Amino acid sequence: MQRIGVLTSGGDAPGMNAAVRAVVRKCIYYNIEVLGIERGYSGLINGEFKKMELGSVADIIHRGGTILRTARCPEFVTKAGQEKALSQIRDFGLEGLVVIGGDGSFRGAMALGNTGVVKTIGLPGTIDNDIACTDVTIGFDTAMNTICDAINKLRDTATSHERVFVLEVMGRDSGALALHAGLAGGAESILIPEIDFDINQICSRLMRGYERGKLHSIILVAEGAASGIAIGEAIKKCTGMDTRVTILGHLQRGGTPTAFDRNIASRMASRAVDFLREGRTNLMVGLVDGEITGTELTYALGQRKVVDEEIFELAKILAI
Ligand code: ADP
Ligand code: F6P
Repeated sequence: MQRIGVLTSGGDAPGMNAAVRAVVRKCIYYNIEVLGIERGYSGLINGEFKKMELGSVADIIHRGGTILRTARCPEFVTKAGQEKALSQIRDFGLEGLVVIGGDGSFRGAMALGNTGVVKTIGLPGTIDNDIACTDVTIGFDTAMNTICDAINKLRDTATSHERVFVLEVMGRDSGALALHAGLAGGAESILIPEIDFDINQICSRLMRGYERGKLHSIILVAEGAASGIAIGEAIKKCTGMDTRVTILGHLQRGGTPTAFDRNIASRMASRAVDFLREGRTNLMVGLVDGEITGTELTYALGQRKVVDEEIFELAKILAI
C-alpha cells in the first residue's frame, strides 16, 4: 500500500486528533503516504486533500476537536455524491481510507469499501458510545468527565439553595453517556431512552430523599429520553420543589482529551494502519475487554449496542 487518506466525519469528539496523529505517523513509519481529507465526506467529494507530514500532526495530541475539520454531508448519502467521491479517490490514487466517526460515517465507509475501489477501515469516534462491537468510542471518556465536572459544580449551588437540578446531556438515541456519568456523579435519578421511566416515581423518590434530610438532588436526563425542560417543569409541578434546568450542550464535545481517550485513539489508529497493510477492508476497529479488535462493518452496523442494566440498577441503589 502506497497512499491512503484519513478523514474525520460526523460530530467531532475529543481524541480524534490523537487518532489522526497516529494514522499519519504510523503510515510514515512504513513509508506510506497519507493525505488528510478536510471536512469529512464533503472534502472527499470536493477534493480537499492535503499531504500530511510528521510535522502536520505535531502538537495536537492534547487538543480537542479535529484539525481535519468535520462535517455532515447529505450529498454523500446519494449515489451521485458517492460517485464523485470515488472519482477523487481514483484521481488521487488512494488505496486505503481511514474514517474516524460514528455509525453514519461507518455506513459511508462501507458504501465506498463495497465498490472495491478503496479499502476502508472505521475508527469509532463519537462521545455517544453508541457503536456496537466496541466497549468504548473515542471521546466518550472525556465527555463523561466533562459531565461529572458539571455535576460537581451544580452540586455546590444545588446544596446552597436546597434545589433540585435537572441536567440534560447529549447521546443522541443512546443513554450510555448519561448512565455512566450519572453513576460517577452520584445522580439521584438517571433517565435514559433504553429504560422506561415514570415521572411520578421519580418525584416520590425525590420527596422521600428530602424527608430524610437531603439538601439537593441531581436528575440526569439523556437527550434521547426526554427534554430536560419538560422534566424540570413536571418535577416542579408534582413536588413543588425549587427546580432548575441546565442543558450542557456542546460543552460536552470539546476540551482536552483524557489520557484514556488519547491512548485508545492511538492504539486503534495504529491497528487501522496494520489492517490496511494486511489488505483488509470494511472493518471497524474496537476495544473489547482491553484488546484492540477488528469487526466486519456489516456485522457491527447490524448490531444494537445495549446499555448495561446492572449499572442502571447500581446507580439507583447507590443514590438512594
Ligand atoms: P456520525 O458519523 O457521528 O454518526 P452522521 O450520522 O451525521 O454522524 O453521519 C456523518 C456523515 O456520514 C453524514 O453526513 C453522511 O455524509 C455520511 N452518512 C451517514 N449515513 C450514511 C449512509 N447511510 N450512507 C452513506 N453515507 C452516510
Ligand atoms: O453524535 C454526537 C452528538 O453530539 C450527539 O450527542 C448529539 O445529539 C449531536 O451530535 C448534536 O449534533 P450537532 O453538533 O450537529 O448539533
